[in-house]
Amino acid sequence: MNHRLISAAFLCCAALASPSRAQTCSAYTFPSVTRFASCVNLPVLNSYLHWNYDRTNNTVSIAFRRTGASTSEWIAWGINPIRQQMVGSQALVAYQNSTTGAMYAYTSAIDSTDTTLPTGNLGFGVPSINATFEKGDMTIFATLELTTGLENGVNQVWQVGPMSGGRPSIHPLSGGNVLSVGTLNFVSGTSTNSGNSRQRRKNVHGVLNAVSWGTLMLLGAMIARYMKAFESADPAWFYLHVTCQMVAYTIGVAGWATGMKLGSDSSSNYQTHRDIGISLFMLGTLQVFTLLLRPKKDHKYRPYWNVYHYAIGYCVIVLSVVNVFKGLDILNPDGKWKKAYVGILVFLGINAAVLEAFTWYLIFKRRKSEEQRPNAHGNVGYASGSGPV
Ligand code: HEM
Ligand SMILES: *[C@@H]1O[C@H](CO)[C@@H](O)[C@H](O)[C@H]1NC(C)=O
Ligand SMILES: *[C@@H]1O[C@H](CO)[C@@H](O)[C@H](O)[C@H]1NC(C)=O
Ligand SMILES: *[C@@H]1O[C@H](CO)[C@@H](O)[C@H](O)[C@H]1NC(C)=O
Repeated sequence: MNHRLISAAFLCCAALASPSRAQTCSAYTFPSVTRFASCVNLPVLNSYLHWNYDRTNNTVSIAFRRTGASTSEWIAWGINPIRQQMVGSQALVAYQNSTTGAMYAYTSAIDSTDTTLPTGNLGFGVPSINATFEKGDMTIFATLELTTGLENGVNQVWQVGPMSGGRPSIHPLSGGNVLSVGTLNFVSGTSTNSGNSRQRRKNVHGVLNAVSWGTLMLLGAMIARYMKAFESADPAWFYLHVTCQMVAYTIGVAGWATGMKLGSDSSSNYQTHRDIGISLFMLGTLQVFTLLLRPKKDHKYRPYWNVYHYAIGYCVIVLSVVNVFKGLDILNPDGKWKKAYVGILVFLGINAAVLEAFTWYLIFKRRKSEEQRPNAHGNVGYASGSGPV
């Protein structure tokens, strides 16, 4: 047998073995603890949940284990009876006491994302809880006296975070640390991971809104402002402007709806982001409907309509940009997406600056030539609100 064959055989074995991480949790035997009948490999944060469910008294004894743990981190696992998220979770927390070196484990009911994980009773009894740290494995052992219904399916969350000043402090808000949610059925032993789908929905929401409110609306306004200066682009600019804003609005409404759904599925409180989003939806809708009420170009009310249209338009632009930034802070706190969006804004900004200068140049040129033709009357530049209809 040559080397290539041997390594091919090795690769083959590795490929067969690696997808079944299921073996990792069931093959694991706890030192000095009775065997657990069920276990699941949690998809992120190198974590495993093992348990024995006792149907006579609806009690489950669990072991939440994280491999490759360090003494400078806390670990936690919890049940959320209401939603698949952190807030509302009935959690078990453990860390090493830095003074004594002993493991400390306790229960904490998480009521907000500003939590410091204080000790507190849970919605069900936890008659015993303790933790160990051996060979890089940090494990919480606990007995949970489940209330009726919890055994047949709960939302579970788990987490790892740094210790600071001897106390748990906030965990990272990206990667596996925000994907650590799912469901678990103690009786059937089944589990699902929902972190990815929720994250995907958040991403879709972010992209839809950054593209529509955050980019196309700006582009549409630029089309109106700068194409108008070219006489030859009349009335093309108008139709382009309307098309661009209608497309932006349509995608924007879809983005807004995904946001409303995310908000209703979560108790996280992003009040400002939400309020701005709702205002944007209302202003945008108003803008679309008043398009239908637009007076003719030479109507005496038309100047008022113009002022109104510009005011709402600029308002929408400012609020859109602010809200996209607020959203990106929530979606991706380490700022990678924000940089990309700043890039788009800088690009639009440079174009706007160049076009703005050019527009004024055209206006002055036109004024000059009109001064030379004293009989000429009519529109002078776009500032007087020249439009096609
Ligand atoms: C030290 C205390 C903690 C603080 C300050 C904290 C803070 C936060 C914040 C600000 C978020 C983002 C919320 C959002 O984007 O909607 C978050 C998400 C999350 N946290 Fe925590 N957390 C802490 C402890 C925990 C614990 C103990 C667990 C698990 C038992 C946990 C599990 C999660 C999960 C799964 C998410 C993502 C899903 C969600 O947004 O709810 N956190 N945390
Ligand atoms: C539940 O019942 C089992 C066996 O019937 C017993 O070993 C266990 O201690 C009970 N647990 C509690 C919390 O009562
Ligand atoms: C660590 O252990 C010491 C001694 O038992 C105790 O006074 C202290 O409160 C513990 N600290 C934490 C954060 O658990
Ligand atoms: C730790 O907690 C588990 C689960 O509740 C329990 O079975 C075990 O006896 C406890 N161990 C110690 C040393 O207290």
